[in-house]
Amino acid sequence: MFPHVRLRRLRRRKIIPLLAETHIGKDDLIAPLFFDENIAGPVPIQAMPGQNRWPVSMAGDVVIRLKSAGIRAVLLFGISSVKDAKASGAYAPDGVIQQVTRAMKQACPDMVIITDLCACEYTDHGHCGYVGECCDGPNLLNDASLEMMQRIAVSQAEAGADIVAPSCMLDGMVAAIREALDDYGHQEVLIMSYSSKFASALYGPFREAAGSGFSFGDRTGYQAPVSNRREAYRESEQDAAEGADILMVKPAGWFGDIITDIKQLGLPVAAYQVSGEYSMIRAAAEKGWLDERRVVMESLVSLKRAGADLIITYFAEDVCRWLDE
Ligand code: PBG
Ligand code: ZN
Repeated sequence: MFPHVRLRRLRRRKIIPLLAETHIGKDDLIAPLFFDENIAGPVPIQAMPGQNRWPVSMAGDVVIRLKSAGIRAVLLFGISSVKDAKASGAYAPDGVIQQVTRAMKQACPDMVIITDLCACEYTDHGHCGYVGECCDGPNLLNDASLEMMQRIAVSQAEAGADIVAPSCMLDGMVAAIREALDDYGHQEVLIMSYSSKFASALYGPFREAAGSGFSFGDRTGYQAPVSNRREAYRESEQDAAEGADILMVKPAGWFGDIITDIKQLGLPVAAYQVSGEYSMIRAAAEKGWLDERRVVMESLVSLKRAGADLIITYFAEDVCRWLDE
């Protein structure tokens, strides 16, 4: 009559840690950072409490602080003083990302520098490349913008990026970038593609952080619809075929099925816990409605359980501190 199988035996207090199937370590984490060439000191990001935009002059200090916390990799976003139709600030030899990358390399040569490779923080209209008439209106031009991505990739590699992370969701972007990097002698630079990136409302706070709101339209013309699982898989499958080294799912928390799916492609998978995911947890914690540490750790363990090898999270530094305690 009584169950012989009693799973509660596994929940004895001293047994639980022995049987944990999923662990979070500092090696799993990538810290995103915003550098703004228009400021002289750190500026708090209102919609992301606890996060700042940093001035270029502090790049060395910031990377050394993260290194000593135990972070191995950073993902850099630039806020440029120049915004134009050609995104020239994105590939200027002394552009914001190029300066920060060089400064970080010098201060901390073993930090893995990942550069967000896109145009939206550098275009005056805020879209991820050249814009023109296509697909029922003014929209992102695919093939013309690939050339822009090639230029940005080479410029970031030349500054010392270890990994470039294209986030524009253009068709053919990985192949185009791989070809350009190889042509310019950067065979060793990895491509971490934002391969399954959804047109999500969770990027809201980021647009304040990176100053990348757009003057017309939205990104539904190039990012994947939230409703479409097979389509998101095909996006990553395509990028894997074009030579991506690491795939990515973004946002992370509501997309565990996608992480599990694209894990089957056999490449390392990164999950990006985006600005909206961060701010929701922070806001509730500030009100005393959620236990921040427990909710954050639960969110990260869930991403690893779904299949993520790497997690990009604005909580990276907090997590390092918690792991030390
Ligand atoms: C730009 C880019 C975005 C994010 C990372 N790279 C915004 C967007 O696609 O609109 C979002 C990151 C976040 O919300 O934390 N292509
Ligand atoms: Zn973009």
